[in-house]
Amino acid sequence: MQRTKVKDLLQGAEVGKEVLLKGWVRTKRGNKYVSFIAVNDGSTINNVQVVADAEKFSEESLKDVTTGAAIAVTGELVASQGKGQVYEIQATSIEVLGKADPETYPLQKKAHSLEFLREIAHLRFRTNTFGAVFRVRNSLAFAVHRFFNEKGFVYMHTPIITASDAEGAGEMFRVTTLDPINPPLTENGQVNYEEDFFGRATNLTVSGQLEGELAAMAFSDIYTFGPTFRAENSNTTRHLAEFWMIEPEMAFYDLKMNADLAEEFIKYIIRYALENNREDIEFLGQRLAEEDKSKPQNERQEMTLLEKLEFVVNNDFERVTYTDAIDILLNSNHYKKKKFQYDVKWGIDLQSEHERYLVEKHFKKPVIVTDYPKDIKAFYMRLNDDGKTVAAMDILAPGIGEIVGGSQREERMDILVERMKGVGIEEEALWWYLDTRRFGGCPHAGFGLGFERMVQFVTGMGNIRDVIPFPRTPQNAEF
Ligand code: 4AD
Ligand code: MG
Repeated sequence: MQRTKVKDLLQGAEVGKEVLLKGWVRTKRGNKYVSFIAVNDGSTINNVQVVADAEKFSEESLKDVTTGAAIAVTGELVASQGKGQVYEIQATSIEVLGKADPETYPLQKKAHSLEFLREIAHLRFRTNTFGAVFRVRNSLAFAVHRFFNEKGFVYMHTPIITASDAEGAGEMFRVTTLDPINPPLTENGQVNYEEDFFGRATNLTVSGQLEGELAAMAFSDIYTFGPTFRAENSNTTRHLAEFWMIEPEMAFYDLKMNADLAEEFIKYIIRYALENNREDIEFLGQRLAEEDKSKPQNERQEMTLLEKLEFVVNNDFERVTYTDAIDILLNSNHYKKKKFQYDVKWGIDLQSEHERYLVEKHFKKPVIVTDYPKDIKAFYMRLNDDGKTVAAMDILAPGIGEIVGGSQREERMDILVERMKGVGIEEEALWWYLDTRRFGGCPHAGFGLGFERMVQFVTGMGNIRDVIPFPRTPQNAEF
């Protein structure tokens, strides 16, 4: 007999028929006449209720049907007499496939803290909250592919091991097979990476962009969607050492077209989740509303999660240049009352408090900030005619801060080489990248969306560690 998933059972397609259900017990309750077993198989946030009459099922036969156990149930799907569910299964047989000792199974019926669940990340998928989060994550990932596929973009797999540092950030994880205790040395006592696996020093990539640009010079429109790695020691609710990034790269695009695409893209994937994960998002919204009750009034959300997402989908993002953004900050009461911890002046890298002020207090919607000072941005961003700023764009989202970073790229060879020199990147090291400027180069642009920050935005989860199955952060690589 074929197993039916809980999601399909609850839609009632097989009412009156004999069905087979497999899943994990969430709760069991009952009296001497009947037991009610709530079963979930991850296909939906909702459980299906299994009704086991005491006539057919002795207490002894159900003793291993405890929270967390895996079971297989056959029975008839019937309209439910009770409240809370439309359909339920009148069981004819229940088989325990895998026990879960109630004495030691860590997930009890009570609500657990997110911190505690992080310590048992291998089991937290089985909670309502994480079930919802990872179903939403799945939908967003699918929507990413659907969006670009509909637009004729080519999905490109860029390498994970690389010898270049795309962002020039220098915060990379070394990849090596050399013996750490006794590495081969050069004549002047440095580690000799020529003897390493790849014959040179290599790292985990921080971005697939540079390789993405190469592909865009042939396919016009490409995107990457893969893991990226940054060894920055940032212990925040927005940073992971391993995170997923989506990086589209488009030939013949300027900054405006780039920003338009990013806005359309973000709205598309949110809309997809709203349409396909309504119940999960509603559940997560209730969770947030509960959490809010324990906060002081001025820290509470003005909109529910659903309202926020609908608002973002239905309204234009704000667009402002960096220079204007600095003016807004300088003219704010917040600044005049010295409430910013970090100084504000033209040329600074916007701090998270500045970004949040712009997005949450001033514009109250997502903001695309463009044309940043060249000295705080990567070498590949196109120099503007003013000679001081570059055609960069960051998208800032309420509650998150920077969610997208991107730019029009410098397609002019001489200026690009000049900027590389400025940050100490050897021409020889990126000869292949420069070849795209030598041979058939053209104006082009792209951006990177931090996938986990996007998932945070849609689920309302406050900590980025709770939207990736197994977070990698400083001092933490369990599971
Ligand atoms: O702004 P970033 O560093 O841009 C790039 O890597 C470009 N190569 C993208 C491009 O133009 N193709 O990173 C892009 C996004 C950020 O806006 C942020 O959302 C996310 O990646 N991000 C992180 N997410 C989680 N943890 C971290 N440590 C992150 N660092 C960046
Ligand atoms: Mg950035």
